[in-house]
Amino acid sequence: MDFFEFIKSRRTIRKFKSTPLTAEQLKRYIDAARVAPSAANMQPLKYIAVSNPDMSEKIFPFVKWAGYLAGEYNPKDGEHPTAYVAVCADTDIRQSGYDVDMGAAVENMILAALADGVGSCWIGSIDHEKISELLEIPDNLKLLCVLALGYPAETPEETVICDESVKYFIGENGNLHVPKRSIDDVLIKTF
Ligand SMILES: Cc1cc2nc3c(=O)[nH]c(=O)nc-3n(C[C@H](O)[C@H](O)[C@H](O)COP(=O)(O)O)c2cc1C
Repeated sequence: MDFFEFIKSRRTIRKFKSTPLTAEQLKRYIDAARVAPSAANMQPLKYIAVSNPDMSEKIFPFVKWAGYLAGEYNPKDGEHPTAYVAVCADTDIRQSGYDVDMGAAVENMILAALADGVGSCWIGSIDHEKISELLEIPDNLKLLCVLALGYPAETPEETVICDESVKYFIGENGNLHVPKRSIDDVLIKTF
C-alpha cells in the first residue's frame, strides 16, 4: 500500500485480539512520537508504556469508548486492548500550550503502530485521577490522554457523511461506519 492510501486506511480500533504487544514495540511507537513536530521545539511530552497484561486490565475501567454509541460499542471480554501508552505533559518544561504537540505526537504513534499491523484508539475520555494513581505518575507530569493498542479484531469503514451527522454508527454488515466530510466540503478554495 502506498503511504497516501496507508494514511487514509487508518481507522480507530476499539476491538482487539488478545495477542500481546512487547515493551520493545511500544518503545518504538514512543520513539516515533518523540520526533514529532513540537512548538518552539520544547518537547514537553513524556510517556508511560504499559504492555503488562495485568496493568492493561487495571486501566480498562477508567477509559470510555465510543461515546456516540453509549456503551453499545465497548470492547467485550477478550476484545480489550492489550497495551496502552499514557501521554503526559511535563509541567517543568511547559505549563500550558502542549495540546497541539500532543496531537502531532499521538498521530505519529498511531501510524507507527499501524505500520506494525497494530490498531489503536486515542482516548481523551479517561479518569485522569485514577489512571495517574495507578501508574504512579509524578506530580510534575499532567496526564493528557491515553492511546489504547492491540491487534485489530474489527474493520471499521469510512463512509460518506449523511444529513450532516458526524456520529459513527454500526452498519448492516456489523462494521462501524465512520462518516467523513468530503474533500469538496473541506477544501474551500484553491488559488
Ligand atoms: C482528541 C481525541 C480524543 C478521543 N477520545 C476518544 C474517547 O475517549 N473514546 C473513544 O472511543 N474514541 C475517542 N477518540 C476517537 C474518535 O472517536 C475517532 O477518531 C473519530 O470517531 C473518527 O474515527 P476514525 O479515527 O476512525 O477516523 C478520540 C479522538 C481524538 C482525536
